[in-house]
Amino acid sequence: MVSRVIPVDPFDLVLFGATGDLARRKILPSLFHRFQISQFCPQSRIIGSSRSALDRAGFQEMVAAAIREFGQEGETGEEDIQAFVELLDYVPVDATGDMGWQELKQQLRADVTRVFYLSVGPSLFPEIASRLSACGIATPASRIVLEKPFGHDLASAQALNAALRDHFDESQIYRIDHYLGKETVQNLMALRFANSLFEPLWNSTHIDHVQITVAESIGVSGRGEYYDRSGAMRDMVQNHLMQLLCLIAMEPPSRFTPNAVRDEKVKVIEALEPVSQENLARGQYRANPASSDPDSYLDHAGNPNSRTESFIAMKVQVANWRWAGTPFYLRTGKCLRARESEIAVYFRDPPHNIFEGAEGVHGNVLVVRLQPDEGIILRTTIKDPGPGGMRLTGANLDMTFADSLPEAGRPQDAYERLIMDVIRGNQTLFMRGDEVEAAWAWADPIIAGWSQSGAAPQPYDRGSSCPEDSLLLMHRDNRRWRTIGS
Ligand code: BG6
Repeated sequence: MVSRVIPVDPFDLVLFGATGDLARRKILPSLFHRFQISQFCPQSRIIGSSRSALDRAGFQEMVAAAIREFGQEGETGEEDIQAFVELLDYVPVDATGDMGWQELKQQLRADVTRVFYLSVGPSLFPEIASRLSACGIATPASRIVLEKPFGHDLASAQALNAALRDHFDESQIYRIDHYLGKETVQNLMALRFANSLFEPLWNSTHIDHVQITVAESIGVSGRGEYYDRSGAMRDMVQNHLMQLLCLIAMEPPSRFTPNAVRDEKVKVIEALEPVSQENLARGQYRANPASSDPDSYLDHAGNPNSRTESFIAMKVQVANWRWAGTPFYLRTGKCLRARESEIAVYFRDPPHNIFEGAEGVHGNVLVVRLQPDEGIILRTTIKDPGPGGMRLTGANLDMTFADSLPEAGRPQDAYERLIMDVIRGNQTLFMRGDEVEAAWAWADPIIAGWSQSGAAPQPYDRGSSCPEDSLLLMHRDNRRWRTIGS
């Protein structure tokens, strides 16, 4: 059951890169599902655009096939698909030439919101923005949506921002980080700012450390060349993990408005201390003959000598009053034992153990699980039930959403929420230009550090839990990572 759908006004959405992978896998199926639950009306239109010489019927066919393949299981009824494809149009446009721009202009209506969704490589962002403006297609009320990667370093991100701002105001620019659209990520804000229980404890006096893990079981096959230019630091840490860190560490904004929230996130990034090479571990997965897919990173990187990391772990310090003395440990990697993403907040142990001889008096751990099995769990210590004296054991207060909120139905895909937010004009879950630049300003010296040292990433077996060095990073501080794939 899907509830509380707030309909949006009719819109014209132009999807550049409409025949690409992301469009077929995520963007178009997400739009379909929102249409299916009547969040937008048949007066809305989606205009696909790319260099491919398709006509309307060809595009409709491609989209219908994409929905059948990538739509949510059990939610892809043919009647709905046929109604949805009626909203579609297609205009072949050359992003770097003159072809198609006037035709595109003629398709757009004057009295509805215009959204330009750039599901294309970032090198095309400036050119498309400039042509949208030069052809009079972009109006002051239009919105432009950009996919990551947003730059490769600070200088390229600044150049991109400047090129966009020549034609669009910051209030029109929506930079997507799909992690911000995930249900539990938003729940983190509700947990922190709609409950008074945690805030008095949310500081270094009570929190020992925080672990942020985004573990993936998939490798880089199919996108090895792109990935090899990025590595885990650029592909995941500078954006997704940074966003998670911000939401955990930020001060409460005065209101839940886009700029109030983003102001607080920028302050966290600006308070990050530089990370020295001793406080990070990089790894690269190698073949594992025992795995059903034995390939190594190098099999797909397009460079047999690549030193790009497919895993990274680091210890990060937020230098402000709230967090001084509470490290944040971040790790992410490909081809790990399981796909598991979570944030674990470790509270300090009780200051004094009155249960002499009883083992197991530990601090509480609050786990926010992003995927799979979205939910929030609080580990507590209780008396081990039954006879035998005052023995203690761990027990979880478990709010796995599928169990505790079954009426909510399947969690919305991040893209469904984010696209609807663009159409509504709500920028809260999108990265502001200064936020992206601050994240690069922090990441650049870290990347430069290992480039200068020439250090190779440590090999780890495909399907294992992490490289050895990342364990040492924790052991040195007398702490342990949570187990991946337990
Ligand atoms: C993307 C990265 O941004 O996020 C990918 O480029 C990664 O490398 C993906 O696999 C992970 O997203 P999710 O939602 O599957 O955790």
